[in-house]
Amino acid sequence: MPSGSARTVGPKRIEPTLMLARAHTFTIEGLDAQQVTVEVDIRPGLPTFTIVGLASAAVREARDRVHAAILNSGYEFPGRRITASMAPSDVRKLGAGLDLALACGVLAASGQLPRGALDRLALYGELGLDGEVRTSRGTLAIAQAAHRCGASKLVVGAAAAREAMLVDGLDVAPARCLRSVVRIATGGGADAPIHGPEPSPAPPAAPHHDLADVIGQEHAIRALLIAAAGGHNILLSGPPGTGKTMLAQRLPSILPPLTRAEAIEVTRIQSVAGNVSQGGELMTSRPFRAPHHTATTAGLVGGAGRHSLGEVVLAHNGVLFLDELSEFSRQAVEALRQPIEEGRVAIVRARRAAVYPARFMLVAATNPCPCGFAGTVERCRCGEAELARYRRRLSGPLLDRIDLMVNLERPRPREAMRGPQVSSMHAREQVQAARERQAERLRGERVVSNAQLGARALSRHVALDGRAAAMLATAQERRLLSGRGVHRTLRVARTVADLHASRLVRAEHLGVALSLRPEIALGRVRAA
Ligand SMILES: Nc1ncnc2c1ncn2[C@@H]1O[C@H](COP(=O)(O)OP(=O)(O)O)[C@@H](O)[C@H]1O
Ligand SMILES: [Mg+2]
Repeated sequence: MPSGSARTVGPKRIEPTLMLARAHTFTIEGLDAQQVTVEVDIRPGLPTFTIVGLASAAVREARDRVHAAILNSGYEFPGRRITASMAPSDVRKLGAGLDLALACGVLAASGQLPRGALDRLALYGELGLDGEVRTSRGTLAIAQAAHRCGASKLVVGAAAAREAMLVDGLDVAPARCLRSVVRIATGGGADAPIHGPEPSPAPPAAPHHDLADVIGQEHAIRALLIAAAGGHNILLSGPPGTGKTMLAQRLPSILPPLTRAEAIEVTRIQSVAGNVSQGGELMTSRPFRAPHHTATTAGLVGGAGRHSLGEVVLAHNGVLFLDELSEFSRQAVEALRQPIEEGRVAIVRARRAAVYPARFMLVAATNPCPCGFAGTVERCRCGEAELARYRRRLSGPLLDRIDLMVNLERPRPREAMRGPQVSSMHAREQVQAARERQAERLRGERVVSNAQLGARALSRHVALDGRAAAMLATAQERRLLSGRGVHRTLRVARTVADLHASRLVRAEHLGVALSLRPEIALGRVRAA
């Protein structure tokens, strides 16, 4: 393969010994894949099998799998001194996907595969003890890297093949077992890809939830619709049992479908995280991530765990839902500032810094106070000091980045008797129409939704009519809005106008946006 360290591969080189072979594979690093060359050297001596080159525990365990897989596939495992070296040696090799390259390297070094058979192949897959080629995490990222590196063919497990085939222009050869791999390497045909049990695996979402299940809460449903239409962050506040969690879970059902480019990104991320079920087709639903409030900072933004991807990355192109917001640690919540502002997150881990995409809609839910009833018709039992402490936890860095806040109340008996307000299908149509108007207007900008409009773009795209301009001036004079608050209000007002197919932002649109500003909505709770 014509890339970096693999340049020494080539038929012209004189081998120091006939017992040396090379195989090409990849390892996942963050969301990307690094090319890895496996060299296998076999020489006389006591039977040993050593792997060198910054291999993780899973890769070291490959020895036993490779040994068994080779024997159980009917090949010979050489009873000599075998050394497998993985280069570049400063890249940590993770996961079991390197098994296939190791096994093929051993077969080639022991003359069971012809010389040169592995030169232009990339191999990726875990081996079962019986020689079956299994799917490994991150196949799509591997396939994209293989294509970039100019591999003429990528051999993967038959169940991972459909995922690899999402890369246009890459020749993917599905293999069910090690014998198939040998056949492919010697010019034979590949196996058929295996379809997974689920035709279109969904990320951990709640696809069957419909807005029509929600009784009352028209105000909150309306706010959720605006949030979905413009991609705005939203905070739902209200007493327990008013449907905050219920509403948040229904947000994915009214969001527009993923574009193909977005779907590829989502599939790649979920695959690296191991969230793709067998079958590996393109993911079509938006991710919905709801980390528990005990989540650590590393769990939220990344750097911990097997794949080091934080919830903000797993929620990319979807929804991050923080239920019981006030229970999250302040540190964890503050760490969300960068991803919310920039749509990406920088993680430094084990000497390497990486930037991951993290553009999501934030939905948060909270009680308005410790007892849960502040600002409602029921009586709040919290003391002043308690209330103040609670508000301090909520406000500050995050509240400033919330576009919409809505206070929910327990439905009155009459409301509870009424039928459903709006179905998800109906709401999604409105969202879709508003998104199309945004896309039309934002053509040529580098953003797709009103929520992403920068300060300068705002002045180009938000035209207030006279009454709206006067209303905004009044709000500013009364110091109801911070500087950032003004921008956020204008973005939301733009979305409300888009929902009404209005080119100009009118006073009634701005009024809706103002009524949903956190500082103003919170003021209402205080006044009550
Ligand atoms: N507005 C509502 N419409 C229909 N059911 C509701 C509503 N509010 C609450 N419920 C019922 O109460 C349960 C708890 O609601 P939940 O969304 O968890 O409340 P919250 O998160 O505000 O505490 C829901 O599963 C649902 O069955
Ligand atoms: Mg709840």
